[in-house]
Amino acid sequence: MNVPRHIAIIMDGNGRWAQARGLARSEGHRAGSKQVEIIADAAIAEGVQTLTLYAFSTENWNRPKTEVETLMTLFAEYAQHSLNDLQRRGIRLRTIGRMEGLPMLPRMALQRAIEATAKNTTLTLNVALNYGGRAELVDAASKVVAGRVKSGDTSPVTEEEFAAALYAPDLTSPDLLIRTGGELRISNFLLWELSYTEFYFTEVLWPDFGPAELHAAIEEFGNRQRRFGKV
Ligand code: FPP
Repeated sequence: MNVPRHIAIIMDGNGRWAQARGLARSEGHRAGSKQVEIIADAAIAEGVQTLTLYAFSTENWNRPKTEVETLMTLFAEYAQHSLNDLQRRGIRLRTIGRMEGLPMLPRMALQRAIEATAKNTTLTLNVALNYGGRAELVDAASKVVAGRVKSGDTSPVTEEEFAAALYAPDLTSPDLLIRTGGELRISNFLLWELSYTEFYFTEVLWPDFGPAELHAAIEEFGNRQRRFGKV
């Protein structure tokens, strides 16, 4: 089967999952956090090489303070408590986004896990935190401009030069984007990188999205014809 090398996921539906059970939204995020480990394992079993997860957007700061705090705690806990697991499974942790905007605790814990897992090769788990697609584009533009002011180069910027200034220029573009939770939009995720990505939307809420659901998405991807603008 034609397995996507790189899958990106918008993990939506934690809040509704919790509400449906009479639980606080935070419990939905906690369940969603467990699902990250399950899906990382399932991705490895499927032969996927890179998984990029949308965990916290630049717009998510507008949520209630307690919910933001829960999420930040979960990110720190994930980086600390999952480190042994990440090592055992050969997972390399990465992040994309404006890391400098995160509170000290998750930022330091993530940084430690990123450094400790840097040489792992089974799966790259790329977590988007304080991430916005437009923010990534303006950050890349600023980087290109800064470099050019130094060099004095005024020739037109090429796509290659611009792409090299993105948050993770060494990672391939996603082959498949999955969005759980029933919404049909990309919500400011990977605006540059999704140019030729296949989209897969499912009603299943993120805490219910398991290995069987991932397999179904990969199977559907296998039936798509990708033409990249050609005939
Ligand atoms: C969207 O669901 C989900 C989020 C904003 C947070 C995603 C975070 C996790 C899955 C937990 C931790 C992740 C890691 C990497 C450890 P929503 O709250 O918008 O759901 P709703 O649409 O049902 O309200």
